Amino acid sequence: MPEIALTQDPAHVRHGSNIGQPLTRRDGILKVTGAARYAADNHLPGMLYAVLAVSSIARGRVTALDLEAAKGHPGVVEVMTPVNRPPLAQDPDAKTNPFMFRLDLLQNDRVRYANQPVAVVIAETLEAASEGAALLAPRYEAEAPRIGLDSSESFVPPAVGIGTPSEVRHGDVEAGLAAAAHRIEATYETPAQYHNPIEPHAILAAWDADRLSIDTPSQALAMARGRIAGLFGIPPENIHIRSPFLGGGFGCKGMIAGPQVLGILAARLVGRPVKLVLRRDQMFGPVGHRAETRQTLRLGAGQEGALTALEHRAKTASSSFDDFFEPSADVSHTLYASPAISTSYEAVRLDTGTPLFMRAPGEASGNIALECAIDEMAEACGMDPLAFRLKNYAEVEPITGKPFSSKALRECYAEGARRFGWAARPLAPRQMRDDAGLLVGWGMGTAVFPALMFQAEARAVIRSDGSGVMETGAQDMGQGAWTALAQIAADSLGLELDRLEFRAGSSDLPDAGIAGGSAHTATAGTAINGAGADVVGKLASLATVDRRSPLYGAGNAGVIARGGRLIRRDDEGRSESYADILARAGLAEIEGRARSAADPAAQSAYSMHAHGAVFAEVKVDPDLGQIRATRLVGAFAAGRIINPRLVRSQYYGGMIWGVSFALHERAVMDPSSGRPMNANLAEYHVPVNADVPSIEAILVEEHDPHVNALGIKGVGEIGVTGTAGAIASAVWHATGTRVRRFPITLDRLIGFDGST
Ligand code: MOS
Repeated sequence: MPEIALTQDPAHVRHGSNIGQPLTRRDGILKVTGAARYAADNHLPGMLYAVLAVSSIARGRVTALDLEAAKGHPGVVEVMTPVNRPPLAQDPDAKTNPFMFRLDLLQNDRVRYANQPVAVVIAETLEAASEGAALLAPRYEAEAPRIGLDSSESFVPPAVGIGTPSEVRHGDVEAGLAAAAHRIEATYETPAQYHNPIEPHAILAAWDADRLSIDTPSQALAMARGRIAGLFGIPPENIHIRSPFLGGGFGCKGMIAGPQVLGILAARLVGRPVKLVLRRDQMFGPVGHRAETRQTLRLGAGQEGALTALEHRAKTASSSFDDFFEPSADVSHTLYASPAISTSYEAVRLDTGTPLFMRAPGEASGNIALECAIDEMAEACGMDPLAFRLKNYAEVEPITGKPFSSKALRECYAEGARRFGWAARPLAPRQMRDDAGLLVGWGMGTAVFPALMFQAEARAVIRSDGSGVMETGAQDMGQGAWTALAQIAADSLGLELDRLEFRAGSSDLPDAGIAGGSAHTATAGTAINGAGADVVGKLASLATVDRRSPLYGAGNAGVIARGGRLIRRDDEGRSESYADILARAGLAEIEGRARSAADPAAQSAYSMHAHGAVFAEVKVDPDLGQIRATRLVGAFAAGRIINPRLVRSQYYGGMIWGVSFALHERAVMDPSSGRPMNANLAEYHVPVNADVPSIEAILVEEHDPHVNALGIKGVGEIGVTGTAGAIASAVWHATGTRVRRFPITLDRLIGFDGST
């Protein structure tokens, strides 16, 4: 494990409470100086380089590979194909639980999608491996690929997302629509998007007999270890994964991906350490993506604008060989108080890689459709979009009738609207121009994301010198886990951060669960908080029953922990240091542990979500249709804020993704070859600084006593929701044109759009 020297600006550290402080990232200096070591930065003596050869067809069979040419190339050591690939203990196509996704590990000659690995070339240098891979020149027996939502027979998926029902009916939608004074029906399309973290999947794998050492990015170390153990038939304890930093995850590193396992297999085959790094174009296939959707909403409202019915139907796609169904319609269950709500799904199977979780999976694509439909319904009612949302505000979760564990959405609406200047918005579209004659439009969207809790463990130690250690296998994707979780750890141990050693990012530490679902701080943080409390409780037990201690007789609950001391609640002048307590007890250190998990009683009693409101301004060239998002204001309420600087940064990131969703990002598939045509960052558009000129995130105060002990909700994904819909509505407000196919590009706006 490389030594990780974490630093922070001491000016930000205030005595007594680390939680709530806007600390800079403790790993910030390491990252900006290039000292942070990512998986691909690692080297081992005797290491070889592996490069994938990937399929250029989307469906069919590989009939020939020029092994002679590849193996004859100087520097090439071995070529791994289905013929010589080392055996696995488990069929990569086995699926014993819904989250065991099928992997392409050279099990046969079938091609199921473009960019599927068909061979791995292993060489002394990266150049030799790349050249060897090119020399393989695969030949194929190709079949016509199924690409696009209309290319094959549709069916009703058994479940969507993480196992929620594919059909939900509450009340009578048809009756609600029939009784409505105003109705709308609209269909929205969202494209396939591919994960593009800065760091592609990379792995350095080294075997020592049946022990395996790996450097690879992972959002869930224990899960990755379990999957690899199953595939190779070795005990999980034999596998050590180091993942101190991830250059972004967004869901594609949530589960170990096929190419990572191929790196391990390559190392097995040659008996030497092997490094394998995906090229950018190889990210477009074997590591997951966000599936395309077509969503139809039918809404009805009474004379005064109260919703009478909300129907949300979604069509999506999975691969030909596995099941993941983007749960986009489920967002309609939560926000708006319609007496009748129904959601349903259909799906097709395509010759693509299996779609997977991608930042706000379902919530993002579904929210864009719902919020656009709400905007259209407000227009049909002649109402301001904010007034319409307040009119239909759900006081309790509409379908279940459960109260929200907390909901500060009204405050988000009010603070965001005030800051943005929403009150000056003309109701009709095409009313505003800037000095340069550009059309100006304002739109808004509601943001919502479930407050999830998974399971985690942490171990805490206080040492005889009064310093502390907190251990949990947490993953920092760039969101700031090294900092926010350490803040929680320091407070839980009653220490300042400089007296705490925080250990994370390694599979030999207690399982911190998954850095996903915007739940990592809540989940790992709750375990950390519990482990700290456990060790402090043990120290208090030692001191308060000892006549020699100034804390004698205070009772375990009668002391607080701060600054490395236990202090009497009833008399802060009486205290004792951790070092003194341990010394008197003759202990070198004392250890505490805790686990965290969702509280089933609280979960069944309350509906738990973070909420927000996003306001957007766009400018559109009236002649050319060029669109720019010029101003974004988001106000979010997400429970306790551990580090406002990091939380703002998460909201910015989410909102920028929302800009991307609305205006930039889509994978363009060639229907005849089935290949992604823009598998590079030049043509797969994501926003750059110039695309996001002004962005503001307001942290709305919220206290949620039910979600978990610390009241933490997630902040990572919610910013994507709300934003895309706000921008789409702003484009309508600027131009009077509703574009219902995303991303909204200038061709679609000026009516020349004949393509997908
Ligand atoms: Mo995320 S899609 O929860 O990594």
